[in-house]
Amino acid sequence: MSRVTLVQVFKHRITQKYLQRSGIHHAVTVATYAYDLAIRKGVSPDLATKSALLHDMGHYEWYRDGKWDYEEYRKHDIHAIKGAERAHKLLIRLGEDRLVAKEVSLAVLLHTDSYLPFTLDNQRNALQDVVAEADRKDEQQHGLHHYKKMTPSQAVKLLSHLDKKIIVPS
Ligand SMILES: [Fe+2]
Repeated sequence: MSRVTLVQVFKHRITQKYLQRSGIHHAVTVATYAYDLAIRKGVSPDLATKSALLHDMGHYEWYRDGKWDYEEYRKHDIHAIKGAERAHKLLIRLGEDRLVAKEVSLAVLLHTDSYLPFTLDNQRNALQDVVAEADRKDEQQHGLHHYKKMTPSQAVKLLSHLDKKIIVPS
């Protein structure tokens, strides 16, 4: 079975729909960081970059009266749960291996513990750690990292560059 590429994942209409909310720039930047961390830590770069690209696809509209209400958003936030479900569904539709889809889904679910009543420190496996760390690297105060701009063609260029570097053993 040939590898489902990052560009294929990015171009799917489900990704296009949900990545707009948390921002293409953040998703692609975190995927790039995740690639480097994965190589350094001996984690699968295929799994790490897919998880990173999709980690925030569970975000929903957090505006109220035309403004972002951060406190309100945090109170109701379950974006990692929604994201895990959406990422899994998307990858299965693209014909992804079911075990890969599950690993990615779990890494999305556990990329943050901000919505949980307990910490995930020292609880994550190596892949989940890479995704959480890559996300933290791009984070800015007040969620400003979600508002940086990147055009879809820039995103495709960067992702196809990553795709070329990722070799999956058959
Ligand atoms: Fe994020």
